[in-house]
Amino acid sequence: MRLFDHAAATPLRVSVREALAAAEPLANPSSTHRAGQRARAVLEDARERIAAALGAHPTEVVLTSGGTESANLALKGAWWASGPVGARGALVVPVGEHHATLDAVEWLEREGAEVRRIGVDARAVTDAAALAAALPGAAVATMLWASNELGSLQPVAEVAAAAAAAGVPLHLDAVGAVGHVPVDFAASGAAMLSVASHKLGGPHGVGALLVRRDARLEALHHGGGQQRGLRSGTQDALGASLFALALEEAVAELATEAERHRRLTDRILAAVRPLPGVRVPAAEDRLPHIAHLVVEGEGGRAAQGEALQFLLDEAGFAVSNGSACSAGVARESHVVRACGLEGVAPLRLSLGRTTAEEDVDALIAVLPGAIARARALG
Ligand SMILES: Cc1ncc(COP(=O)(O)O)c(C=O)c1O
Repeated sequence: MRLFDHAAATPLRVSVREALAAAEPLANPSSTHRAGQRARAVLEDARERIAAALGAHPTEVVLTSGGTESANLALKGAWWASGPVGARGALVVPVGEHHATLDAVEWLEREGAEVRRIGVDARAVTDAAALAAALPGAAVATMLWASNELGSLQPVAEVAAAAAAAGVPLHLDAVGAVGHVPVDFAASGAAMLSVASHKLGGPHGVGALLVRRDARLEALHHGGGQQRGLRSGTQDALGASLFALALEEAVAELATEAERHRRLTDRILAAVRPLPGVRVPAAEDRLPHIAHLVVEGEGGRAAQGEALQFLLDEAGFAVSNGSACSAGVARESHVVRACGLEGVAPLRLSLGRTTAEEDVDALIAVLPGAIARARALG
């Protein structure tokens, strides 16, 4: 199977696999005996390396189980901390965000939060002016660094400047962007930033929320008071060290890999663009490893994203139809809908460090036939 779904999860790096195989059993890093102190040293070394790779201070790194927990902690935590019940500020959220954000915000809305939703354009880029106008009186604002479906880069600098001017903490969901474009927490101006290890070739179930030292946040869960009380629970020193290793490597190879991915995704987009019924909503200003296209149905019929994904799967290519698949249930992509596209089959092809030129050659050879069959199936 040729993997064109690295944006969902990219395979473990060789160095990470080797480090995992060689790992010694670690004690609880909060234990005061020598074994605990050794685990603590591994954990704090990892925290320092994660911080250095992302332009943060080690005390700003709150280790979590990944992007979903980080986004939930950022949004629920900031809203809860913004004042007493009945006097909390609004949440500002673009409609093209990942479900980790949208569903957390919807839950808070049912708890009584005011939600200000911000539109996106035909490339899934957030309307920065509308977001800035929605900031006064907000408890927290959030935005992707780049769309995880279309790959389009978001107006990070503009929105961060507006949030700073309005005194509203900004959370950036950089889960899909880290390792593919430069991400520097301090320079970004954000109060919080989410990152996940499995997008970088590290283990699943590990991630971090970077939390600026002046940010006010309530914890999601309570217990032993680890990590400034923001994330109680025994810390995963091994997971953190493998995450740090994957992140460091991803950042070190970013420049060369981004250029290679850009060239390969350009080739894919150039090959599909002339095909009947194919549109490429976000060709420019995008994450280099993502090629996203939509396929229109024939004769006014809606195209079926699952059919296209299935045909490519049968041909030996693992791809994404861009929709959020929760528990294996495909939902129509809210992002594609927010871009004003209905009845189209989205296809997200995402590359990684193991993608070779010949994988792309093979994909380009089967894409036209698969697209034509999926359109005819409508
Ligand atoms: C942009 C973005 N945010 C959040 C998440 C959720 O992260 P996790 O799966 O680590 O919980 C993902 C994962 O697909 C993502 O792509």
